[in-house]
Amino acid sequence: MTASGPTEVHVSGFTPEVEAATAPVWEKVRRHVTPMEWRLQAPLIHAINQLKRERRAVILAHNYMTPDIFHGVGDYVGDSLGLAREAARADADVIVQAGVHFMAETSKILSPEKKILIPDLRAGCSLAASITADDVRLMRQRYPGLPVVTYVNTSAEVKAETDICCTSANAVQVVEHAAREWGVDRVILIPDEFLARNVARQTSVGIIAWRGRCEVHEQFTVEDIREIREAHPGAEILAHPECPAEVLAEADFAGSTAAMNDYVLTRRPRQVVLITECSMADNVAADAVDTEFVRPCNLCPHMKQITLENILQALVEDRHEVTVDPIVAGRARTAVQRMIDMPPPSSPARYDLVRARHHVDVELI
Ligand code: 13P
Ligand code: SF4
Repeated sequence: MTASGPTEVHVSGFTPEVEAATAPVWEKVRRHVTPMEWRLQAPLIHAINQLKRERRAVILAHNYMTPDIFHGVGDYVGDSLGLAREAARADADVIVQAGVHFMAETSKILSPEKKILIPDLRAGCSLAASITADDVRLMRQRYPGLPVVTYVNTSAEVKAETDICCTSANAVQVVEHAAREWGVDRVILIPDEFLARNVARQTSVGIIAWRGRCEVHEQFTVEDIREIREAHPGAEILAHPECPAEVLAEADFAGSTAAMNDYVLTRRPRQVVLITECSMADNVAADAVDTEFVRPCNLCPHMKQITLENILQALVEDRHEVTVDPIVAGRARTAVQRMIDMPPPSSPARYDLVRARHHVDVELI
């Protein structure tokens, strides 16, 4: 294939050179990719990696990318918090966000001088779509003096109305920090209702929440977890805090995608279930070959818009460039930077499951 645009690129076939250059990636993905698929993927991976060097580009890949992207072309891989930190310090001219649109906007907010590309504009997020800047302004009017803590899964305009951002990896820490700094005993935590309910069980700070939901994690139910336990009594069950609180209460561990990764790689359970997006297990499995993964996962249709083909096109044709109005970006940067400036936890934050089993009310708007 030959693609043209600002940069010319020729994608060769599965030549011996391509095979040799991509052999370490093949070792990682061979359990999830057939040899036939690999003959098509390897030349794309090789071309992307060459083009990255020419363009001084880096690829930030979220844990929900498919293994070909995650292991093949990701320069920095991780959860939303880790990718935001990398966007701020990446030494590059171009960042390709192998993730969803709000992540690309966060990169632009933190690195306004860099060119930020998202390979497919349809890579949105049900949480980001659930709330607008006007909604946040109305909440502020209703609760004057309370700090607004916003999940990074939101638009730049919403972040601009925010006091401090958080991710699932640091939400409890940020909520407690905001309550201390503002001298209040309640905070507004938006837009994920379930994350808010899960955080409320971890802290004595009162939570005012919004009705947003992640369309992937809201689908998991208590019945699903009980059925898995019955079918796989030895399996350790790890759940993401965007799941309903009742699901977390039934799990053995809860944390961000990076925390789940860390749990599997350090504890090496014999059998594990990751209650989250499907690709997560494939990516961790490549590094945890002795662990058996039970896979009752749900696909994120937004994350799955990103492919090797459109990453290559992004680099060749400089598309789709993500821009943020400079005034909005400046205000949003304050909120994101306050989060980045907080000391990173010594190990990825986990949710206390004893506390997770005790119901705590949140005020839902
Ligand atoms: P984390 O990677 O921060 O755990 O978030 C999961 C997610 O849904 C990102 O969209
Ligand atoms: Fe949004 Fe959920 Fe998809 Fe993450 S997994 S991008 S929160 S819809």
